[in-house]
Amino acid sequence: MRFLGLFALPLASALVSPVDSVGRLPALGWNSWNAFGCDINETRILDAAHQMVSRGLLAAGYQFVNLDDCWSDKRGRDAAGKLVPDPTKFPNGIAGLADKVHALGLQLGIYSSAGTTTCAGYPASLGYEAVDAQTWADWGVDYLKYDNCGVPRNWTDVCQGCVPDASDGKSHPNGTCPGTTNLCPTGYNYSSSHTAERYRHMRDALLAQKRPILYSLCDWGAAGVQSWGNATGHSWRATPDIRPRWSKVVGILNQNSFYLDNTDFWGHSDADMLEVGNKGLSLAEARTHFAFWAAMKSPLLIGTDLTTLTDVNRDILTNKWLLQFNQDLVVGAPAKPYKWGTNPDGMFNETYPAEYWSGRFGDGRVLVLALNPYATTKTKIITWSEVPELKGSSSSTSIKVTDAWTGKDLGTIQDSSLSANVSSHDTAVFVVQTVVNH
Ligand SMILES: *[C@@H]1O[C@H](CO)[C@@H](O)[C@H](O)[C@H]1NC(C)=O
Ligand SMILES: *[C@@H]1O[C@H](CO)[C@@H](O)[C@H](O)[C@H]1NC(C)=O
Ligand SMILES: *[C@@H]1O[C@H](CO)[C@@H](O)[C@H](O)[C@H]1NC(C)=O
Ligand SMILES: *[C@@H]1O[C@H](CO)[C@@H](O)[C@H](O)[C@H]1NC(C)=O
Ligand SMILES: *[C@@H]1O[C@H](CO)[C@@H](O)[C@H](O)[C@H]1NC(C)=O
Ligand SMILES: *[C@@H]1O[C@H](CO)[C@@H](O)[C@H](O)[C@H]1NC(C)=O
Ligand SMILES: *[C@@H]1O[C@H](CO)[C@@H](O)[C@H](O)[C@H]1NC(C)=O
Repeated sequence: MRFLGLFALPLASALVSPVDSVGRLPALGWNSWNAFGCDINETRILDAAHQMVSRGLLAAGYQFVNLDDCWSDKRGRDAAGKLVPDPTKFPNGIAGLADKVHALGLQLGIYSSAGTTTCAGYPASLGYEAVDAQTWADWGVDYLKYDNCGVPRNWTDVCQGCVPDASDGKSHPNGTCPGTTNLCPTGYNYSSSHTAERYRHMRDALLAQKRPILYSLCDWGAAGVQSWGNATGHSWRATPDIRPRWSKVVGILNQNSFYLDNTDFWGHSDADMLEVGNKGLSLAEARTHFAFWAAMKSPLLIGTDLTTLTDVNRDILTNKWLLQFNQDLVVGAPAKPYKWGTNPDGMFNETYPAEYWSGRFGDGRVLVLALNPYATTKTKIITWSEVPELKGSSSSTSIKVTDAWTGKDLGTIQDSSLSANVSSHDTAVFVVQTVVNH
């Protein structure tokens, strides 16, 4: 980042750094918010960091330990205009915490907002971008989550873009609303919005630092971020906040399924932090949540109290095939739906989204997922000739399948399809390999 900045190449490409790979792949880590909200301190953060090491999460690729809101002194900035860590919660400051986190082989993330206050009312960074970016770099911070709260009226936007279905049930990935809600002028350029400008100010401040800092935008999909997120940061929140509820998981899955063309190396549409491990999701629902977030190449930020993480949930979060797919070094594109199932292809539906998905691994294997959104067990049939990555396979090709949940090798499949009984709200996940017969 630093070198590109110095040579004044276009800033969009400065997000791509040949000297380090920060932001090339979806971020993997843990964030304090879904587990603890504002109730954080150094002990809790370090407990999480130690669990990431001892429970095998670091070994599986989870790198970041991210503070969310409420880490700073709510009374305000110091005389020099700098943010101050809460002295009770963080007696060794953020720099002291960063040292301890780095010593464990992990990286530290911090939080602020593109407004004058954070969502919980703490000082935020609008107008202080340069000083805050410098402060975080000095402390040894590696990641910034940048929220969209506390925005003064003159920095807001009337034209917000729309959820894809606004009026006609079809997808409008560019945020051009056909209905009357949030009507944006035809051809409106979302990059010219105040929101995009606020996020660019922080991008430029981060890129001016010597330390690479992954830049995670959190504007909940507002102001058509899908059209400017990739030129502004390494990931951008696509949707409203998640909660540990099936309706939220499936609602976000549906919405983000229309944004997948915007995800590739260096830029990821973010479906929000994980709720795996939190009360409110069944085992089947937690599996579906993790499987699709990984398959969509969303950042994967664990959001549960790791000191009480069960082995079952740990195993979901460290599923090797799904993590391999999410972190593929050769293919940057996510899995995409190839057939909706219950609803017509392309239909926006918050409870019955696309059910049949596939994507390619860099080594030629294919990931196939089949979701059961129903309240009872259903038999899902994966027809090989329908899977785009398998089309054109000749009759001399055989198909070998591994079940990604059990790790079971299902052997060579002779039939033209594979059927699986999938329980309510669960997702079957298969890793498919084609083998040319001799
Ligand atoms: C950190 O927070 C936890 C949870 O509120 C609390 O039990 C613990 O005493 C706190 N530790 C310190 C050192 O303040
Ligand atoms: C909003 O008002 C503040 C204070 O007057 C000013 O510094 C800022 O530039 C304004 N923002 C925009 C987008 O005009
Ligand atoms: C969305 O924007 C992209 C790039 O600007 C363009 O290629 C595509 O045609 C647009 N799609 C729609 C549905 O307007
Ligand atoms: C959209 O707005 C951005 C920021 O103001 C500008 O750089 C870009 O050229 C605009 N794009 C078009 C197509 O007008
Ligand atoms: C996002 O931008 C990066 C460069 O920063 C580029 O390599 C990548 O292809 C872009 N993604 C998409 C989907 O265009
Ligand atoms: C979503 O799809 C289900 C199943 O087809 C259907 O019953 C329901 O009415 C749809 N919801 C909306 C809002 O269209
Ligand atoms: C699915 O369940 C049905 C009914 O119990 C059973 O006949 C069938 O063999 C099962 N299929 C698979 C692939 O397990």
